[in-house]
Amino acid sequence: MTFIGGRVETRDETSARLTQYLTEQDARGWTKWRVETVDGRPVGRGGFGEYAEDRELGYTIARQHWGHGLATELASALVAWHVANPAPAGHDDDRPMRLWGYADVANVASIRVMTKAGLRFVETRDRAGRPYAFFRLDDSTASSD
Ligand SMILES: CC(C)(COP(=O)(O)OP(=O)(O)OC[C@H]1O[C@@H](n2cnc3c(N)ncnc32)[C@H](O)[C@@H]1OP(=O)(O)O)[C@@H](O)C(=O)NCCC(=O)NCCS
Repeated sequence: MTFIGGRVETRDETSARLTQYLTEQDARGWTKWRVETVDGRPVGRGGFGEYAEDRELGYTIARQHWGHGLATELASALVAWHVANPAPAGHDDDRPMRLWGYADVANVASIRVMTKAGLRFVETRDRAGRPYAFFRLDDSTASSD
């Protein structure tokens, strides 16, 4: 939680988060989804949030599963899903949604994941007093597939 809230969530906060995911899934068909092994063991979550009028790539892997390439595999699959579904129902804008990713500059693992999933560094921006590295999927990447 160091880079996603800074502390462990309460049960009520987690419950509200799960309710939000279910509501988003029902309303628009995309959210942050459960990630599990082929035999059904939960290992994390991954999917999309909203960033301005665009999508934000998000992923979290349970600590005991770190370092096995799961986040890289997950983020790459999510990028492919985004490319295949860039203009969902209810998205009023003329242009397809863009895909952004961002992480605290100290979150080296997450920055590496974004890079390996094909996002390109744009710039460092302030978020709540911390420098965050912002990445984006190039439009050409999205339209070439
Ligand atoms: C970020 C996170 C998802 C990475 O998950 P993971 O499954 O361990 O990542 P991968 O195994 O796919 O590793 C991705 C790359 O990061 C590198 N990496 C992993 N942990 C690292 C660390 N602590 N320091 C530096 N590099 C690290 C890996 O070596 C790999 O790069 P490589 O292929 O060049 O060797 C995981 O650490 C996590 O869930 N963190 C907490 C939640 C979080 O920060 N989410 C992202 C918010 S922006």
